[in-house]
Amino acid sequence: MKVTVSRKAHFNAAHQLHNKEWTDARNAAVFGKCANPNYHGHNYELIVSVKGKIDPETGFVMDMKVLKDLIRSEVEDQFDHKNLNIEVAEFKTLNPTAENISVVIWDKLRPKIDKDLELSITLYETPRNFVTYDGDL
Ligand code: NI
Repeated sequence: MKVTVSRKAHFNAAHQLHNKEWTDARNAAVFGKCANPNYHGHNYELIVSVKGKIDPETGFVMDMKVLKDLIRSEVEDQFDHKNLNIEVAEFKTLNPTAENISVVIWDKLRPKIDKDLELSITLYETPRNFVTYDGDL
C-alpha cells in the first residue's frame, strides 16, 4: 500500500524566455510576454508530492517538517525574489520555462529524499498553467 503526501510552497521570481539562436521577432512570437527582454515576474505555486509506504513506527510516509525544510532550503531560499536567468546557476544556459524549473527542482530534491519514496513536482506558473515532472527520462 502506497500513499502520496504533498506539501505546497510558493515563490516569486522573474524570468525571460529566450532562445539566443532566434531573432527577436521569433522569440516574441513563440514566448509572447515571457520574451520581454526587461524580464517580468510570476507567482509560482509549487506542490511537492512524495509517494511511498507508511512507516509503521511513525504512521508517516515522510515527516512533513523535513519536507517543508527541504523545500525552503533547496527551492525557496534559492529562487524566491530572484531573477532566474541571472541569479540561478541552472538557468544560465537553460530556458526557465515551468517545465525546466520543475526538472531543476526535482533534481535538487531527489538526492535529499529517501530513495524508496517516489517524488513528483507540480509547478503552477499561472493559476491555469501548470506542469508536472516525476523523474521520467
Ligand atoms: Ni513568464
